[in-house]
Amino acid sequence: MVTATESDELVRIGPGTAMGDLMRQYWLPALASSELQPGGEPTRLMLLGEKLIAFRDSSGRVGVFDHRCPHRCASLFYGRNEEGGIRCIYHGWKFDTDGNCLDMPNVAPRQRFEDKVHAKAYKVTERAGLVWVYMGARAEAPPMPAIEATLLDAAEIDLMFVQRECNWLQALEGDIDTSHFTFLHVGSLQPEQIDDSNMMKYQVTNRAPEYQVADTDWGTMYTAYRPAEEDRTYWRFAHFGFPFWTWVPQGDFMDRVSARAWVPMDDVHTMFVSITWKKISRMPPLKGGLPIPGSRATMEYLPNTTDWYGRWRPRANAGNDYFIDRDAQRNDAIFSGITHIHMQDQAVTESMGPITDHAFENLAPSDLMIARTRRRLVTAARALREKGTAPPGVDNPQIFLQVRSGECVLAATDWRQAYADRMKAAIRPVGELLAAN
Ligand code: FES
Ligand SMILES: [Fe+2]
Repeated sequence: MVTATESDELVRIGPGTAMGDLMRQYWLPALASSELQPGGEPTRLMLLGEKLIAFRDSSGRVGVFDHRCPHRCASLFYGRNEEGGIRCIYHGWKFDTDGNCLDMPNVAPRQRFEDKVHAKAYKVTERAGLVWVYMGARAEAPPMPAIEATLLDAAEIDLMFVQRECNWLQALEGDIDTSHFTFLHVGSLQPEQIDDSNMMKYQVTNRAPEYQVADTDWGTMYTAYRPAEEDRTYWRFAHFGFPFWTWVPQGDFMDRVSARAWVPMDDVHTMFVSITWKKISRMPPLKGGLPIPGSRATMEYLPNTTDWYGRWRPRANAGNDYFIDRDAQRNDAIFSGITHIHMQDQAVTESMGPITDHAFENLAPSDLMIARTRRRLVTAARALREKGTAPPGVDNPQIFLQVRSGECVLAATDWRQAYADRMKAAIRPVGELLAAN
């Protein structure tokens, strides 16, 4: 359980808040590189409660600024993306991607002070097809996190962005709550629909696993476990990593190079970013090659708008009840009645309200990982605030190389040993990097 004060500390991420300060210690995946064209129009970007613009200049460099011009606060969203910088349309001041003022054409030449004025520009880098932003106070940004999936070339990964209309924490907590899978996503499936070689049979046969949870160098980890054949155990390993990363257990541990970020746009909007190696094993079909009822491969989006909340919005949303099919729900064709696994998650977490009222909850043993993760977050945010302690992974980003999630069946009885054993056997596409560490 968290107190009302802790609850508030967990969910607020604006400038000057405890969690906002913690988030600002890290590099944040903010946009897909492909969203910004050289010399193209600027994009409104809401990040950690700050209204920013992002643009790519004529030479390909990306700038991420406070959207307000440092002259008299007109929005640089309306700016002209010119040769080597963006020019405010109000009085024509021009800024390069680092925020340096290049031109002050409405001021008499001998009175200009370009060298004294800067747009509020954040540090930016690009990796794995993503634009990353550092919004912290350090003069020298910390190193990038060594998250395995983000170390692959953009050509080797699939990216998915989806905006969610709720607080970042309740969105993230869906990923560290494995027992919902056998209800929300496959609640109607019966064991006889599943091939014997498909590990999902363990989940559908036993929908109430037991858990082990631990703090780790990168955040928290847990396993849900169920007995399997011949004294073996079916393990589902998954993680939370600071400040908002998850690794979910659905899929084969061996090659599951994938990571998910729940990036707070503001307190009540979150941008989900999924980064997945193209070569991971896909969820096997049901008997007869059938798909899981209610699953669908592609996400349908509304057209983007230029609004602060105009990017990556699904067509199914609270306004249309996520196109819930009550007949499918009633006759058990689709347990939730909602199509698309991600949209099923979206519906339930948005339905909690913009910010979950933690005082209304009744956590169960199946929520052990959620409780532990909240505690870990509050503790780290307070250590930063009270003692200046850098939170996990900021100065030691290589710890993320130890993170892998997925399911497996092993004879081991000790869960940490089972994890270590599987990790040794796992396929590691960034092997040279691991060796270097
Ligand atoms: S407000 Fe931008 S140049 Fe004046
Ligand atoms: Fe889910």
